[in-house]
Amino acid sequence: NYEKLWLGASLLLIVGFISTIVYGAAGAGITMVNDEGGQVNPKELGNTSGFDDPGVTKVGPNEYEVHIVALQFAFQPGTVELPANSTVTFYVTSRDVVHGFEVAGTNANTMVIPGEVSQITVEFDEPGEYGIVCHEYCGAGHHSMAAELIVR
Ligand code: CUA
Repeated sequence: NYEKLWLGASLLLIVGFISTIVYGAAGAGITMVNDEGGQVNPKELGNTSGFDDPGVTKVGPNEYEVHIVALQFAFQPGTVELPANSTVTFYVTSRDVVHGFEVAGTNANTMVIPGEVSQITVEFDEPGEYGIVCHEYCGAGHHSMAAELIVR
């Protein structure tokens, strides 16, 4: 009887070891991809180009990229400043759960899914201030999840 128990226990251990190895390999695979492939590892954003230091990057005469990280319950960075007459591409991803990303008053409106990079391009012609809001329920602090965009 005890022998059968031990046999069962060792089988369980072996299955456990194998699934640990398989899971580890899959996890390492996710780390390899970057935002250029539209996918990121939400646990490795600190080591992912663009998301390791979220914010505004100038990429052309009137062109900008903005990397934004959504998390419970904030956007990083909390304030985005851009010049008027610019074309801006937002790259947005989540560190934890599904969020929303909406720049109120513009056509920028997308879901933000952990592991994926949402990309959306907006033109800002006039100076103004816009609210960035999360429009997907993401937990107790959802209603307070916001940032601001200032176009000068
Ligand atoms: Cu994030 Cu709602």
